[in-house]
Amino acid sequence: MSFGARIRIRLGALQHNFSLLKVAAGGARICSVIKANAFGHGLLVVARGLPDTDSLAVARLSEARMLRDHGIEKPIVLLAGVLTPDDLRHALNLDCELVVHNRLQLDMLEAAGPGSATVWLKVDTGMHRLGIDPDDVDEYLARLRRCRAVRDVRLMTHLGNADNTADPTTTLQLQRFTRVAADFAGDTSVANSAAILGWGEACGLASPDTSKIWVRPGIALYGISPFSAQCGADLGLQPVMEFESRLIAIKPVKNGDAVGYGGTWKANGDTIIGIVSAGYGDGYPRFLPSGTPIRVNDRRVPLVGIVSMDMLAVDLGQGATERPGDPVVLWGNELPAEEVAACAGTIAYQLICGVTHREPGEVIPA
Ligand SMILES: Cc1ncc(COP(=O)(O)O)c(C=O)c1O
Repeated sequence: MSFGARIRIRLGALQHNFSLLKVAAGGARICSVIKANAFGHGLLVVARGLPDTDSLAVARLSEARMLRDHGIEKPIVLLAGVLTPDDLRHALNLDCELVVHNRLQLDMLEAAGPGSATVWLKVDTGMHRLGIDPDDVDEYLARLRRCRAVRDVRLMTHLGNADNTADPTTTLQLQRFTRVAADFAGDTSVANSAAILGWGEACGLASPDTSKIWVRPGIALYGISPFSAQCGADLGLQPVMEFESRLIAIKPVKNGDAVGYGGTWKANGDTIIGIVSAGYGDGYPRFLPSGTPIRVNDRRVPLVGIVSMDMLAVDLGQGATERPGDPVVLWGNELPAEEVAACAGTIAYQLICGVTHREPGEVIPA
């Protein structure tokens, strides 16, 4: 029996979240963001689990290649674009939609042979990560429209602060984007999960015609809230990933006994420790502190001591009746990844992206 930590993926939850986002997006088209192995859930499983998505977005050429090699035919947006002419050739061969966010990429496209590429011109409206200056948009658009390799030019931007609905930065970013897109007749894309769920009207998702708008949800597809004050369930989302394992040992300890590397945690009274087959080698981060909740047999118990590579310890308490082999949930149903992440001052994105797939996962069909 394989007893190591592994993920269970619920395709029904994925489809539920997709439908909820489609409604929240007012019928706008959905570009599902599945970079970083679909946020740790499995690139192909998620790509195949979203039959109604209008397109898929990845960050790297290798991710696009994997999708095409496995027969995925949906449009694929390459969110970071390409870096070299060779990459451009490969991306065009894979029929990727390209994000253009700098002059080098524009020059490469101008030098490319005839084609029918879709290009997303990315405008930096204030996040200062990727994107061209709003003042340069007209020049880029004119040059892109003359490129023999390009058939369709679209406009996009990315919001840096949409997860905080009280932050005025988003309004400023949206104003800048509205200004550059004022005379633009093509398709546009702005909203990530937080914007779909928190800034829908400001992003035009409540307007009568959303047919030229694309939204780009990532985290919410996986059932996780983009907002720090709420869990996915508060928004009607369902967690897609359950990260689970089993107890492999039960160990009574005495008052004052130290547990784990460095003896950072000491029993405050006689108790029973459970050893779980999960560690940072599986993607359960070492930075999660003592006290982080873990579910054992449907009850919550605290993580104690330093997380090892293959194991971690929980305090089951005096009188515990658990046995080796009993089920453990590290995050997922009834224990949101958002709550676990908050214990270490990080975000659930980091936890779910970090699972290592050391053991094969299980996919529960819709
Ligand atoms: C350009 C871009 N669009 C959309 C997304 C999806 O964001 P979220 O996962 O917050 O919905 C990302 C994710 O990082 C992104 O980089």
